[in-house]
Amino acid sequence: MAELRMEAVTFRAGGKALLHEASLSFRCGELTAIIGPSGCGKSTLLKCLTTSRRPASGRVSLAGQDVWAMRAEYRLALGYVPQDDVIHPQLTVAEAFEFASGLRLDTSVPPAEIRSRIDSTAAALGLAGAKDRRIHRLSGGQRKRVNIGIELLADPKILVLDEPASGLDPGTEEDLVKLLAALAHGGRTVVTTTHSMEYLAAFDRIVVLAAGYVVFCGSRPELLAHFAVDHEAEVFKAIRGKPAEAWAALYRRSPLFARALSS
Ligand SMILES: Nc1ncnc2c1ncn2[C@@H]1O[C@H](COP(=O)(O)OP(=O)(O)O)[C@@H](O)[C@H]1O
Ligand SMILES: [Mg+2]
Repeated sequence: MAELRMEAVTFRAGGKALLHEASLSFRCGELTAIIGPSGCGKSTLLKCLTTSRRPASGRVSLAGQDVWAMRAEYRLALGYVPQDDVIHPQLTVAEAFEFASGLRLDTSVPPAEIRSRIDSTAAALGLAGAKDRRIHRLSGGQRKRVNIGIELLADPKILVLDEPASGLDPGTEEDLVKLLAALAHGGRTVVTTTHSMEYLAAFDRIVVLAAGYVVFCGSRPELLAHFAVDHEAEVFKAIRGKPAEAWAALYRRSPLFARALSS
């Protein structure tokens, strides 16, 4: 299945590099977390990955093809849930899904098929009982699931989310992580940023950013070993112990780096 890949992606704004030669690959069936302190470049990386921002150099590709060369097609294969809700709070859940179907689905899809997709998406997200509620009356977790649902209506093979768990209480956040894992393991590429270090065990891969550098990509046990800490809560403290460039250099010399890019 098509591999989504970033190769030496550098993004500049305001005269400085916000992302330094980021190289990563994201695989179908895997849930990846992008973590790192506030301001380290997580949203910038997602924007480069989703063609919302064009890198100064480097390449983003899907199945070997430059995504900028096939941008319209790529955007159809992609669901992107930005940090801020984009749906109108006065709509009901069903109305928001209908509105999104009109935008996202081809006009050749028959109305009965649209209704069945809306119902199955709502059911998959645990929103079947909330379809007639107005969005502003939903809980934060439900509202986030509506935003994810809007992207899922078109059944994208790639789902990218920016801090979907921010503002959620821990139980709701755990449910959301489990939902994302289920979506990934059902045959999608799912990439999400998170500022929370909880539930990392639920992710197939963890990418750590520091000051715009990729300083780690691997599993949770590898994360603890790489930063020589007993618990993930200590990772950012360890990172502050030396410059991000030094961590990036260490990572690039490690076997993790070569493995992160092999298909
Ligand atoms: N358009 C821009 N021009 C200059 N600096 C920016 C711009 N957008 C973001 N930044 C800066 O880039 C850094 C990374 O931002 P961002 O990707 O939003 O980080 P994160 O999502 O990890 O919090 C931050 O220091 C932010 O202030
Ligand atoms: Mg951000």
